[in-house]
Parts: sequence; C-alpha cells; structure tokens
Amino acid sequence: MTKPKRQMRLGGFFHPTGNHVAAWLHPEAQADAGMNFRHYVELAQTSERAKFDLVFLADSNATRDGNVAALSRWPQYMAYFEPTTLLSGLAATTKNIGLVATATTSYNEPYTIARRFASIDMMSEGRAGWNVVTSSNKSEAYNYNRTEHFGHDERYERAREFVEICRGLWDSWDDDAFVRDRETSTYFVPEKLHYLRHQGKHFSVRGPLNVPRPPQGYPVFAQAGASNTGRDFAAEIAEIVFTPLHTLKEAQDFSADIRGRMDKFDRDPSHIKIMPGLNVIVGRTDEEAEEKHQYLQSLIHPDVGRQLLSTELGGIDLTPFRVDGPLPYHLIPDVEGSSGKRIMDVARRDNLTIRDSYKQFAGARGQRTLKGKPQHIADEMEDWFLKEGVDGFLIQPAHLPVGLNEFVDTVVPELVRRGRFKTKYEGKTLRENLGLPRPT
Ligand SMILES: Cc1cc2nc3c(=O)[nH]c(=O)nc-3n(C[C@H](O)[C@H](O)[C@H](O)COP(=O)(O)O)c2cc1C
Repeated sequence: MTKPKRQMRLGGFFHPTGNHVAAWLHPEAQADAGMNFRHYVELAQTSERAKFDLVFLADSNATRDGNVAALSRWPQYMAYFEPTTLLSGLAATTKNIGLVATATTSYNEPYTIARRFASIDMMSEGRAGWNVVTSSNKSEAYNYNRTEHFGHDERYERAREFVEICRGLWDSWDDDAFVRDRETSTYFVPEKLHYLRHQGKHFSVRGPLNVPRPPQGYPVFAQAGASNTGRDFAAEIAEIVFTPLHTLKEAQDFSADIRGRMDKFDRDPSHIKIMPGLNVIVGRTDEEAEEKHQYLQSLIHPDVGRQLLSTELGGIDLTPFRVDGPLPYHLIPDVEGSSGKRIMDVARRDNLTIRDSYKQFAGARGQRTLKGKPQHIADEMEDWFLKEGVDGFLIQPAHLPVGLNEFVDTVVPELVRRGRFKTKYEGKTLRENLGLPRPT
C-alpha cells in the first residue's frame, strides 16, 4: 500500500471586507462586513465546506488612530464585532472547523480570558483557539486606564505570566471532576478541585475557574511575534505561528529558527504549525488575477494610501505632499533595518512616487501576496510546503466573500487532486485536526 501523502493545514483569516485596504469599495464586497453576523456565518460555513482547519480573527481594543479624513475611508478596526463574542455565534452555526480569536494580554485580565476561551471550547466541543498578542495598537492604553503603551519587553513579560495563569486556571478542575451524582448528592468531587493561588509580578489570581476543564485541556495557542523576544515566546507557548514570510528561504530559516528554539522549552518541534498569511487573488488565468489586483489597487484613496505609508515611515505626515511626487526623503530617519529605510531605499532605486510606494503595502498588509491561476497558486503553496518552509497557510482573500469562494472552488480542489489537502475532517477537536497533543 502506498503511504498517504503529507497534507498541509489551511485556515481562513478574515479582515472585514477582505485583506486589501480598498476591498470595501469593490462592488462585490460586503461593505458592512464587520457588523454583519450572517456574512461571517457564510464565511465560516464556506471554509468548513472546504475542510479548512480553522477560521482566524484579528483584534484590537481600540479604533485605529491617525488622520480622521483617512480613517473615514477605511473600515478596519473602526466598526466590527468583538471576536470571542463572534466565535460563540459561529460555534453554533458550524460543526467541525476550528475557531481562533485574538485576545491581547496587555489590556485584559487572565481570569476573564481563561473563562471566555473555556466557554467557547465547551460550546464548540473542542474547537477553540487563542491568538495570544501583546497589542500592536498603542492607543489601546488610552481605553485601559493608562497614558502610554507598555514597553516591548514588558508586554512579553506580562504575556508570559498571563498565559501561565490561564493554563493554571484551566487546570482548576480534573477532567472528571463534575460527576453530578444525584444518588450521593455529589455535584463535583472535592479532591478534583484545585486552587491556583498565583502571586506574580503583574497579576494576583486565586482561582479556581468557574468553568470545568475545557474539552481540549487548553485552547490551541496561536502567536505572531517577529522579534527575538517574540520568537522565543512562540517557541515557548505557540502551536500555530503566522508571522509574515515572503520568500521560501525566509520561511525555511524562520521555521528552523523557531523549531530550534523549542528545545530550550523542552517541546517537540512537531508540536508547532508554521502557517504564514497568504494574501491570495485567484483568476482563471494569471492575467485575469493581475487585472483583479490592479482594479483593487486603483480603488485606494490617496488619503488612505498616505496614511498607510505614514504609519510604515514611523508617523511622518504625508498630507502636504503630492501622491504623484517623490517621498520627502529629508524627513525619513535613515535608520538601518527600519521599515522607513527599506521603503526609502526601494523608492530611490526604482524612482517611485508616493502612490507607487503605498500601493506596495495596500494589498498584503505585511503578508505575502500570491496571485494567478489556481494551478500557479497551488504550485507555490506546494513548493513551500514540500521544501520544509511551512506546515500550511492562513488564507487572507483580498476581498470577501468572493475571494474566499474562488479559492475554495478552484485552488482547494487542485490541492486535493495533488493529495496535499484533505477531503474530510479526521478529528473532532481542533487539536486532533492539527495533530497537536492534548495537555494532560
Ligand atoms: C501577522 C501579525 C498579526 C498580528 N495580529 C495582531 C492583532 O490582531 N492584534 C494585536 O493587538 N496585535 C497583533 N499583532 C502584534 C503582536 O502581538 C506583537 O505585539 C507585535 O508583532 C510586536 O511584537 P514583535 O516585535 O515580537 O513582532 C500581530 C503581529 C503580527 C506579526
């Protein structure tokens, strides 16, 4: 008998209206997506029909800040559902797909988060995942009693303690603690209850959690840090990593680095799934995919483009400058390794205007763009997968729901035909489907 082929993991990562900044202006996009529950149900059910392992939702505890004229032209993070609330709705309208939401460790309390994810894991019968972030948006501080954001290292230190507490809270009860025995009038077995009594640098939490041990033990942990501290944190706790990766070499080096770091935390390297985001645009031909991409690019409002670029350049105000003129090089700090320096060097080399420069960020939002006919997209995905670059991908369609439907109806069958993707769910829980162990 021939050995079954190794198969990749796939997830759907859905920003409201799609991954492209101008997606909501596309006539086929769902303009009110952020607040349209039926739309999310459709996305989750389409992903489940395709046998995706999970759906994934980003989050911020604040709106974006910046030039209001620009903000008013781009919906992201301005009006959308709190993701764990949304997941509980999706738990009721799907059966098999994993449900992963972002929750920050910088502006939350561990007890609240442990309770929320335990509840989602219960309600979905073992399909919950938690994307553990340290907050990229510094404005969250202003909504949580602070005047400034925590420093980078402090955020990670807090995150480590936060996760340790959540694990302890999820272990409040043995798996078989709740016997609910009417004969003996025993609701739970007293010896199977454990108090955490955590006293640490950032938190003090007694426990126990008022939810039984979740079906998966703990929800699946996802993470996306890129710095040295972020990578160490991934190696310590993450089971899915979706840090942006742009070239095969970068993906191979990143995977080897993260798996190499796992040894110091006494973890098995196969217990982490590297699944970078992929901003996909599918066409019947490569030319059609390129046309679709160019159409979305043409919809970017110059205010939005300037604001995007300004953020990448470290907050320089670009509003006084013409979009078809050059970047104000004299205002950009010449700091080696910074994103501003990279943008400046490319713009100088290729003689790019402000418009040309912002277009490079508008589609992928930091992740890799892959456009073309289904076979081309499948070739690229398979190549990375077979050359030990990644375990799979989080698919971030440029505009929704159409981009997802196209991927599911054309690229997924191509991957299945090649034996690289499944046609049925093998496990019941997200852990089982990803091949991850259940914490004992
Ligand atoms: C691909 C990616 C997605 C992220 N998603 C979120 C998010 O949804 N919400 C959030 O607050 N932070 C998010 N972050 C921010 C990280 O949690 C972290 O704060 C940031 O990457 C800085 O850490 P680093 O220097 O280790 O990369 C994301 C980061 C990356 C790279």
